Amino acid sequence: MAIPVVLDVDTGVDDACALLLAALHPGLDLRAVTCVGGNAPVDDVVANTLTVLDAAGRADVVVARGAERPLLEEAVDARHVHGADGMGDLDWPKSSRQPDPRHAVEVLRDVLREAAATDEPVTLIPLAPLTNIALLLRTYPEVARGLREVVFMGGAADVGNATASAEFNVFHDPEAAAVVLDACADLGIAVTMYGLDVFYAPHIGLAQADALVAVGGRGAAELAGRLVRFQAERFGAGSATIGDAGAVCAVLDPGGVQREKLPVRVELAGTWSRGRTIVDRRDWTGDLSHDPHGLAPTTIDVCLEVDADRYARLWLDTVGGGSL
Ligand code: RIB
Ligand code: CA
Repeated sequence: MAIPVVLDVDTGVDDACALLLAALHPGLDLRAVTCVGGNAPVDDVVANTLTVLDAAGRADVVVARGAERPLLEEAVDARHVHGADGMGDLDWPKSSRQPDPRHAVEVLRDVLREAAATDEPVTLIPLAPLTNIALLLRTYPEVARGLREVVFMGGAADVGNATASAEFNVFHDPEAAAVVLDACADLGIAVTMYGLDVFYAPHIGLAQADALVAVGGRGAAELAGRLVRFQAERFGAGSATIGDAGAVCAVLDPGGVQREKLPVRVELAGTWSRGRTIVDRRDWTGDLSHDPHGLAPTTIDVCLEVDADRYARLWLDTVGGGSL
């Protein structure tokens, strides 16, 4: 049985890599894609998402526009990473389609209510700032009945990227991340964090990217190769990470990551640490019993290691049609 999934994206070069995998792999039933401002303004995210789904031959998938800005922070973007249009400035033909008229939160609500009614719980895969998800869980908590789990790309146990201390998706909207962790604990929703500790590992080389581009025909393979080449060149590297696509791999092939159940909280007040996911890896009860902060109330599965080649091959075989 294909796994019912919904992606929440800020497309984004690596979100596009994740969308291609989710749209094409037979083991997934992509029910909808919701968009949020992040890597680029939300309208660019919507346009990029529609374009990627067209390239994958999946114009049937519902796409909805969501939050334009974080709950409290001013919106920033990551166009220094993803290009001016948010998706590599590839001059790729834009989709002529429009998003669903419902707000992303309403599409999420409707899809999850349907999933609960048919007893086909959905795996929700947020790959962006968690603003839509926070709004959803606080407005319609009953949708938890239609959720199998949340597997989100965000945070980190060790490193940062947006700042020395924080990962971009959580840094962009720290309040939303804190609300989502709190709501999932309240509602009994299982959470897996696919953070920076594993995010950068699955890589595609330029030779593989060029083989994808050579497939041509303005299809998924060519787009996938162009995305990888753009990202490698942006970083002056000989390869590029599949980024967000790794979180989709973790749903398709959970044995490819090593997870640990750990307490996690989001720093909201720190001057230099705001947006950090504080992953508590202490193992001596003495420290814990004398900690004035106490244990974080939320314990989730944190991905600490990944079989990078296994996930890179999974992505390449899927977007390349198994021909590379
Ligand atoms: O920190 C990496 C995350 O931020 C990825 O989801 C990337 O697409 C950006 O949204
Ligand atoms: Ca993203």
